[in-house]
Amino acid sequence: MGDKTEKLLSTLKLQPVVPVLIIEDAKTAVPLARALVAGGLKAIEITLRTDAALEAVRLVAQEVEGAVVGAGTILNAAHYAAAVDAGSQFIVSPGTTQELLDVARDSDIPLLPGAATASEVMALREEGYKVLKFFPAEQAGGAAYLKALSSPLAGTLFCPTGGISLKNAMDYLSLPNVVCVGGSWVAPKELVSAGDWAGITKLASEACALKG
Ligand code: 3PG
Repeated sequence: MGDKTEKLLSTLKLQPVVPVLIIEDAKTAVPLARALVAGGLKAIEITLRTDAALEAVRLVAQEVEGAVVGAGTILNAAHYAAAVDAGSQFIVSPGTTQELLDVARDSDIPLLPGAATASEVMALREEGYKVLKFFPAEQAGGAAYLKALSSPLAGTLFCPTGGISLKNAMDYLSLPNVVCVGGSWVAPKELVSAGDWAGITKLASEACALKG
């Protein structure tokens, strides 16, 4: 297994759930990340869907001890470069393009590329990828669908994301081909805007207690 895959796997194995964050105000990034780390969720994905996202990555990378910050919703080479420059330690994409594969090959920072079909998984295996994001997990067929891929596509591990919550996370975490799940439920908008960091730590602790 390559060094980059090892690095990515060791990050994903830090916890059963990777929080997927949409940060509207960069000022919330540090307290939010500290609240998640306090609950045991160290690997954190900040999506590049807002103007505040890159600054949020930068602040968390610099200021939050124990956090391993990654960037999500990376759609092209420019996003990849900007996210790495801001301090991202891993990169997540909802799907895969040749442009992303090319930039990932030349980067020291690992890519968790998205796939949702057997053909997409096979194409990524040919590129040497062993760990993929299964997205959008619930909408694409859920845990039953992913379980069906586990035998023919043995050796590929997934981080399913999309539509996952405390209620259905174990359906995925109990599968042999799942390393962790991703989800936004641990950082609800209402708690973030209210600055309810204790509430977020509680959600993170519950998520952290899930056993794969
Ligand atoms: C996303 O990229 O939006 C993630 O998949 C999060 O999905 P969720 O909000 O359904 O957890």
